[in-house]
Amino acid sequence: MASITLCMINQKGGCGKSSTCFHLAGAFAASGCSVLLIDADPQGSLSQGFFGSEVIENLPAGRTLAALFDEECFFLDQQQLILQTDFDGISIVPCNQHLARHNIPEPEKAGLAQYALKEFLEQNDGYDVVLIDCPPNLYQCSWNAMVAADYVVIPVPPEDFGTQGLRAVHQAIDNARKLNPTIRRLGHLVTRYDRRLLVHRSYEERLRELYKEMVLDTIVPEASAFKVSLACRQPVEYYSAKSTAAERTRDLAAEIVTRIAEKSKKRIVGA
Ligand SMILES: Nc1ncnc2c1ncn2[C@@H]1O[C@H](COP(=O)(O)OP(=O)(O)O)[C@@H](O)[C@H]1O
Ligand SMILES: [Mg+2]
Repeated sequence: MASITLCMINQKGGCGKSSTCFHLAGAFAASGCSVLLIDADPQGSLSQGFFGSEVIENLPAGRTLAALFDEECFFLDQQQLILQTDFDGISIVPCNQHLARHNIPEPEKAGLAQYALKEFLEQNDGYDVVLIDCPPNLYQCSWNAMVAADYVVIPVPPEDFGTQGLRAVHQAIDNARKLNPTIRRLGHLVTRYDRRLLVHRSYEERLRELYKEMVLDTIVPEASAFKVSLACRQPVEYYSAKSTAAERTRDLAAEIVTRIAEKSKKRIVGA
């Protein structure tokens, strides 16, 4: 498998960005892939998912993603930023509150800092899958992710029609294309879905009408197994491989690989 760098973007909180990164890492790793997670949200929830809040909140800036934006850390050995988790094949560049001051609005004016994550990933390659978890805004951290990534997934909970949120996300991706011309939308991912709710079924239908094949077939259901396994600091694949939640996460990993393979083929033939 060729290497995949994918970021999860949405300017809303609570839509499942961190949860999807966490569990998806488990699905990819269990299938034999090496995964590097980048926690680019100053809230650090992805990092805390693996190591707990106390460990993560006590990390000095120089041991977190913030180091990439900090001139004082210029000569740091960047390898030091990568932590091995308890799970074979899953590593993470953690972050915490120290990243907040670098997450500035108007990142387009930030000069070379816009390329910090891209350069880091170019120097630390060799992973099959890189998943970048972003904060609920479109500032510097999300911008860095879009400049560095090959693909964007937009997690959307099936509620909140009428908001302008998605338009802003698409605009940001278009803007990022100026610095990263090959970035592509892999699609919208319906998350936290409850098929018993008419409002959820209607939302999904409408989203597919609007965005057509730009909506992933796989749907992430609202399922307690996601929450419980996260609380136990294990991706659901390791906590409960037979659960529906784990099964859907494996489906999602497989669909991501298939979609990327199709897009690469089209790119080669110039479609
Ligand atoms: N599919 C799901 N089923 C159940 N709980 C979920 C699901 N996705 C996310 N959650 C829970 O909802 C909360 C917010 O999700 P999170 O992934 O942190 O959102 P975001 O990163 O987009 O802000 C977390 O407590 C998470 O465990
Ligand atoms: Mg999050």
